[in-house]
Parts: sequence; C-alpha cells; structure tokens
Amino acid sequence: MRLRRSSVRLLALISSALLVWVVAAGVEKPSIAVDEDGTLFINATNRVVLNGVDVVAMLKTIVPAVVKTSPEIIFKAHEHHTITTNALLARSVHATDLDNDGHIDILSASYQDDKIAWYRNNGNGTFSTQKVITTDADGVHLVYAADLNQDGLVDVLSASQKDNKIAWYRNNGGGSFSAQIVISTDVSDAFSVYAADLDNDGDLDVLSASLYDHKIAWYRNNGDGTFSTQIVITTNAVYARSVYAADLDNDGLIDVLSASALDEKVAWYRNNGGGSFSTQKVITTDADDARSVYAADLDNDGYIDVLSASAHDNKIAWYRNNGDSSFSTQIVISSNASQADAVYAADLDNDGYIDVLSASSKDNKIAWYHNNGRGSFSTPIVITTNAEKASSVFAADLDNDGDLDVLSANENENKIAWYRNQLSQLLFQE
Ligand SMILES: *[C@@H]1O[C@H](CO)[C@@H](O)[C@H](O)[C@H]1NC(C)=O
Ligand SMILES: *[C@@H]1O[C@H](CO)[C@@H](O)[C@H](O)[C@H]1NC(C)=O
Ligand SMILES: *[C@@H]1O[C@H](CO)[C@@H](O)[C@H](O)[C@H]1NC(C)=O
Repeated sequence: MRLRRSSVRLLALISSALLVWVVAAGVEKPSIAVDEDGTLFINATNRVVLNGVDVVAMLKTIVPAVVKTSPEIIFKAHEHHTITTNALLARSVHATDLDNDGHIDILSASYQDDKIAWYRNNGNGTFSTQKVITTDADGVHLVYAADLNQDGLVDVLSASQKDNKIAWYRNNGGGSFSAQIVISTDVSDAFSVYAADLDNDGDLDVLSASLYDHKIAWYRNNGDGTFSTQIVITTNAVYARSVYAADLDNDGLIDVLSASALDEKVAWYRNNGGGSFSTQKVITTDADDARSVYAADLDNDGYIDVLSASAHDNKIAWYRNNGDSSFSTQIVISSNASQADAVYAADLDNDGYIDVLSASSKDNKIAWYHNNGRGSFSTPIVITTNAEKASSVFAADLDNDGDLDVLSANENENKIAWYRNQLSQLLFQE
C-alpha cells in the first residue's frame, strides 16, 4: 500500500490519539472514563466499533504501513528520560542484564570522576540511583561488559586514559562487584576495550586500543578471568581510538577492527587461528579523525560490513564487505554528524534490516539512519539535538517490550539518558 505523505501524517496523528484511549489487552472489565487531565479512556474487552468501523482492527492494519513510510514516529520527544546527571563528563554508556533478573541494566563511564557505575532496571521503566562500581579508573573513557570468568554473571571492563589502564570488575552476584582487577597498564592513553573469543577456546578474551602508543593489543583469557600479558596486534594505528571484533571473512574465527584518528584509518587484522593475526589491512584512510568502528551485516548478504564515525569530517560511513576479504570504498551515510564521535547499529524498527545510530558531540545530536534494505539509508532521523556533547550511543530493550530503545552519554550535562522506542505500542504488541 502506498500512502501519500499528508495522509500518512494524518493517520499517524489519528493513531496516536486513538492509542491514548484504546487499550486492547489486559483489560478486565469494559469502561469509559475521563481522568483529571481530560484524557478519555475506553477500555474494551472485545471490539471498539466507531460508526461501524472496528477501530483496533483498522489501526492494526494501518499503523505498520505508517511506521514503514514514516519510521521517525517510533521515537517521540516526550519519551526522553534521564537516568543520572551524576556521571561527571560522561563518556560511555552500555546496557546489559547485570543482576540476572531478565531486565537490562545500564552502565556508565565518566571521565572527570573516574567512575564506573550501574543503574538497576526496576522493571517498570524506572532505574535505581547510581551504584558505584569503582572510582579508580582515572580518566575513564569506555565501559564494556562480558562474562569473563564463565560463571553466568556479566562482568564489567574499563579503559582509562590518565592511568593507562585496562581493567575489569568481577560480578559477584546480587549486584555487587569486586574491586578493580588490572589487566594491563602497558597501554598509553587507553581509549577502548572489547571482549571476544579470539583463540576459539570458548572464553572471552580482551582487546584494547590505546592512543599514544598507536596500539591494538589483546589479552588471552585463561578461562577463569586471569589474563596473559599483552599480545600486540599492531602499533600502526596512529592515535588508536576504537577496537571491535567480528568474523569478517566467515571462516569461524573472530577478526579485529581498529579506528585511528591521526592516520584517518579504519583497518582490520585477519585472525589466522591459534591467536595469531595478519598485518594491518587498511579498509579506508578517508575517515578524518576516526573515532569509532563497528560492524554489522547491513545489506543482509551474510557478510559483516564495517561502520565508522569520524569527527573532523563529520561523517558516518560504511564499507561493504565484498565477501572475498575485501571492502568497498567508503559509502557515506551522513556528513552532517557534527564531530561524529560514535556509531552503533541495531534494527530499531524490527523490519529485519540493521539500522545505524550516531552520536555527534558538536551538534549535541543522537540520530538514526533507517536501512531501506540492501544497505541504502534514509536521511538522518534526529532523536534529539539536546544531548550536550553526545559522546556515546547504544541500543537495548530497556522496557522489555520487544523493541530496542536508545541510550546516550551526554558529556557536558554529566548525563546518561534514554529514549523510549514506541514501535511495539504502535503495533499493539504487549
Ligand atoms: C481502564 O481505564 C482506567 C480509567 O478509568 C485506567 O486508569 C486504567 O489504566 C484502564 N485499564 C487498563 C487495563 O487499561
Ligand atoms: C518502580 O519500581 C520501584 C522499585 O520496585 C519502585 O520504588 C517505584 O515506585 C516503581 N515506580 C513506578 C512508577 O511504578
Ligand atoms: C545538519 O544538521 C543540523 C542540526 O542537526 C540541521 O539543522 C541541518 O539542517 C542539517 N543540514 C543538512 C544539510 O542536512
């Protein structure tokens, strides 16, 4: 069905108005009521028929078409929420279930107070106050989470710049964490940390990117959360800011990716097996002040593509994996993400194609780019331009409704915020 723009807008309006008062599920007895704010509630246990039209059935048909042509309606300004404003110079946000209660909790890293903290998901759309894991990560830039000691609990990792440290914090269960356990201090200005099974032995190893020594390195997990000394992958990523890992050549071994600022480079390192890596394979040198690298299959061809955010040219771009260990030249998604700091990818509208998200720090913007299928992207869809010095973006289903919500770290507001995705409500999914 093709809908004209104006009729789409009208339908969107009608459907959001109707959504306020039609509650199709979970109603025990039918009623009509008006609350003190003047909202009219019609709670039906069967159909709602308006002049002969079954309103709910109609909306269930129309709304998916509206979402398809106007995906911007899934994020609305009144669904912006603050988690904390007590993460001083917030640099990084991550989300995962830390207390194994089935709800996704939130992690923050803040540079000025050297803090890694978490916020418990109460399961009703609210979060606990800040729970500090450490203040020993001096000038922390990034937080990541993974079960490092294979006990079924997700542990926490940090990369901190001022004390040149890659460290982890063991999840002891019940929401408590160990003191900082240092993995390496042989990282000059540590910027990024990631975890992946690089030697195919079933446990998660750790990767680091450090700025001043231009280094991408890894640390072999002995299986119990103790790690080998540093194994260098390259020292040729000049001002290495970001590290990521994914199987790029579909050989069952996880390869490594880097983004480095001064040589404007996105590169990969082929996993040769047995924990050895190829020399650097350059994907692009067109990412001026490259800040962030990510990977996802954007064109649904079974090969994992690569994404970058670069600050000096304000670019969010991707590189198509040709399937033969080579990549396309840079395909720009946006060159209007002013001082692009972070890129992330996730299917935000549940259409089976992975969309792209960006955080840009000069225009305080969190935006997403709708994947129109086979790797063509929409113009930017702005979620907010009020994320002051947005430095990090992440997606996770925080309200357990089957769609992915968005998170940001807003450095100049010391804030971690989330943006509720209303797709499931629009589609009447509970
Ligand atoms: C039914 O309507 C009332 C208002 O009378 C509202 O407070 C309540 O949340 C509704 N119940 C359900 C299950 O939607
Ligand atoms: C959400 O859950 C928390 C913790 O159980 C509780 O303190 C709070 O009042 C609840 N908030 C709402 C809006 O239900
Ligand atoms: C770039 O983004 C800014 C703010 O985010 C917006 O005002 C402007 O119209 C955009 N420019 C283009 C060419 O898209």
